[in-house]
Amino acid sequence: MKLAILSCAPKAYSTRRLQEAARQREHQVRVLNTLKFAIDLERGSPSLHYRQKELSHYDAVLPRIGASITYYGTAVVRQFQEMDVFCANTSHGILNSRDKLRSLQILSRHHVGLPRTSFVRDKKDVLPAIERVGGAPVIIKLIEGTQGIGVLLAETVKAAESIIELLQSQKQNVLIQKFVAESKGRDIRAFVVGDQVVAAMRRVAQGQEFRSNVHRGGIAEPVELSEQYRETAVRCTQIMGLRVAGVDMLEGEDGPQVMEVNSSPGLEGIETCTGLDIAGAVIDYIAAQVDFPEIDVRQRLTVSRGYGVNEIYVPEGSNFVGQSIAQTKLWENDVNVLTLYRGAKVIPNPRAERTLEAGDKLLCFGKLEAMRGMIPARTRRRRRPAVQELDSSIAAQ
Ligand SMILES: Nc1ncnc2c1ncn2[C@@H]1O[C@H](COP(=O)(O)OP(=O)(O)O)[C@@H](O)[C@H]1O
Ligand SMILES: [Mg+2]
Repeated sequence: MKLAILSCAPKAYSTRRLQEAARQREHQVRVLNTLKFAIDLERGSPSLHYRQKELSHYDAVLPRIGASITYYGTAVVRQFQEMDVFCANTSHGILNSRDKLRSLQILSRHHVGLPRTSFVRDKKDVLPAIERVGGAPVIIKLIEGTQGIGVLLAETVKAAESIIELLQSQKQNVLIQKFVAESKGRDIRAFVVGDQVVAAMRRVAQGQEFRSNVHRGGIAEPVELSEQYRETAVRCTQIMGLRVAGVDMLEGEDGPQVMEVNSSPGLEGIETCTGLDIAGAVIDYIAAQVDFPEIDVRQRLTVSRGYGVNEIYVPEGSNFVGQSIAQTKLWENDVNVLTLYRGAKVIPNPRAERTLEAGDKLLCFGKLEAMRGMIPARTRRRRRPAVQELDSSIAAQ
């Protein structure tokens, strides 16, 4: 395959290793500077120029977009996507992961452990928010910090309030987050490629420091992850719309607590620590997936007027309970079931004979008018409960 690595740091360890791994596998590979592209828009033909010349054809793109060039970098990646070039991570996934609030918002409707977090603006909301996440000591976090720089630990509620006030007066957006004390200055970095964790390390903060980032002096050791941690890391990557990611998790009492998902995870720390060829795993994955560029389903499907993607809930007492998908007559009404969600289980392309249960959710594509009639009146009016509560609240109805 012909691969472009998008990077502004051709000499960085990660870029060199990825290039080297691609060469070893006899792929054609070039490192292209993200900021040297010109994005050209014209009716029916999105295109790119690189260093003033029309870009030749590439089969795949591996974006390594640093936080300082998110806007331009994701615009370049989006252009490749519009040109139907396979991108190891999409602009949408990169944007989701860049913002700690946005990523937690997206993750919070799924079955994924997170430290309780609150985002407020009004001064009056600060104290109740601190209390809701568990009181002091409490973590205060800048939404776009990296390398541990924007993460603070306030020992008392008073200290937390003044820090938040100060940051907000400087026009900074901050998250208020439960301090997961039991993780004791340690965290887990799982490196996910596709639907697998290919390597993992535990980072341990040194001395009085609670932040375990390598840039804050944290020391890394290889770790064998349990199934629960692997599953969480892979799910988060998929939910964020990424295929290559570094998932950071705290070791909480009830299992993994996801802090963030990085879309351009560094290779040096984790390859050195584990001795694994992670660059090779990334390249092999891209080579295997190159024929499946991401399709923006909403953008493509919903251009057919009157059709769309929707979720149908099956509450207790619904006619659908106990019926097979075929019996529901969804198909006859021009509605296709793409995926069935049952608790934490995801069943893609469910078979016609599969029987529905109370609490199921069906992701459907079809005629919106037909689907409207299938959303039970009560659930349509009610605020939809959080997924974690869904099963019990439906059972209680
Ligand atoms: N809620 C928390 N409880 C305990 N420690 C935390 C919490 N959030 C962050 N940390 C510590 O601070 C470090 C940096 O936090 P993180 O959210 O990953 O920000 P960054 O993007 O700057 O790395 C983590 O690796 C972890 O050691
Ligand atoms: Mg981090």
